[in-house]
Amino acid sequence: MNKKLVLTGRRNFLLGLGALAGMGTFTVAGRLKHLMYPETWDANGDIAAAQTVPLRVQAAAKGLIYGAASNYRVLSSNPDFAALCTQQCAMLVPELELKWQALRPSPNHFNFTRGDWMAAFAHTHGMLFRGHTLVWHKHLPAWFADTVNSKNAEQVLLKHIATVAGHYAGKIHSWDVVNEAIALGDKRSDGLRKAPWLQLLGPDYIDIAFRAAAEADPQALLVYNENGLDYDTPQATAKRTAVLKLLERLKSNGTPVHALGIQAHLGNRAVQSKFTKLRKFLSDVANLGLKILVTEMDTIDKNLPQDSKVRDRIVAGIYEDYLSVVLDELAVIAVVTWGLSDRYTWLSTKQPRQDGLPVRPLLFDAQLKPKLAWHAVARVFEKAPKRLLYKL
Ligand code: XIL
Repeated sequence: MNKKLVLTGRRNFLLGLGALAGMGTFTVAGRLKHLMYPETWDANGDIAAAQTVPLRVQAAAKGLIYGAASNYRVLSSNPDFAALCTQQCAMLVPELELKWQALRPSPNHFNFTRGDWMAAFAHTHGMLFRGHTLVWHKHLPAWFADTVNSKNAEQVLLKHIATVAGHYAGKIHSWDVVNEAIALGDKRSDGLRKAPWLQLLGPDYIDIAFRAAAEADPQALLVYNENGLDYDTPQATAKRTAVLKLLERLKSNGTPVHALGIQAHLGNRAVQSKFTKLRKFLSDVANLGLKILVTEMDTIDKNLPQDSKVRDRIVAGIYEDYLSVVLDELAVIAVVTWGLSDRYTWLSTKQPRQDGLPVRPLLFDAQLKPKLAWHAVARVFEKAPKRLLYKL
């Protein structure tokens, strides 16, 4: 069957689900399970283990990298979860360990203990290692506000990037050099966020950071990472325009930016979306000669129905809709989810459900069993056009 028809059919089905669940009358009836992903449901309406090839293998067959973010605390304390990560992921992203607050307890002291543990874990298990993040307005150490001023800011920033990117040089697939520099709510004409770095150094802080990262680690792919770029809404459209302008400016300055990271924390606003504007944006980014990575994908389910099976179907549909649009763009080289199991997700505290039920935003459930979303991603990888595996 034609892909468009399948997607359209499912969209209508999901709309129906939402309406039924909203009326409080919906149960997962056996007959409905055949409408969606028939091959992944068993006789009880549960997910059948029809497809078990790890995502890292399925992605690699299409020249893609699949990976996930995790952290030292979780990986070092739960061997089953650690094994799941190494089985499924070709790339690991430290969720916390390479942020300023974690790395730099005082202006002249760096603590790489946990970051090095994560790097060694990735290396031991044949996973690529992604750096997150060299410049961000959040997770700055407590000493930052008192110590950094417009006189020493450039030196503090350069020292950070030279030390951290230098420490991991040659071991990093890609660095998020600058994270979330755009905030249209801050009402500047260039769209830049009034981040501490902007206020201390002006808009050039972004160029300064990329140049320093290139010098410290000439092999890493240097990424500008941003959120809120996904939906066909006016806000996301304005943000895409601002990001494109920023990337054009960086390119025309000769600043060494190599890729755009799209965070893809989905599901917050519109559940149904065609992602049409995103598709055009990805082409525009690719036309600048940039690669693209999905860097932090998950699906916020706080506004979805209570029934976990209904929720799982909607979440799976969002993964499938989004990634089938994104992977159509051949400049996309990687898909990273922000976590792997619902047991460990920042959304439990950041976007909890009002009914108190656990959130279910990821590909494996809290018992580490693959969810419908896992099958949806597997299916998208299977259908994705093949690309040349991007080599540094
Ligand atoms: C989040 C972590 O997942 C949380 O554990 C932490 O408390 C805050 O940061 N965008 C980003 C990530 O770029 O660094 C954030 O990670 C999630 C949003």
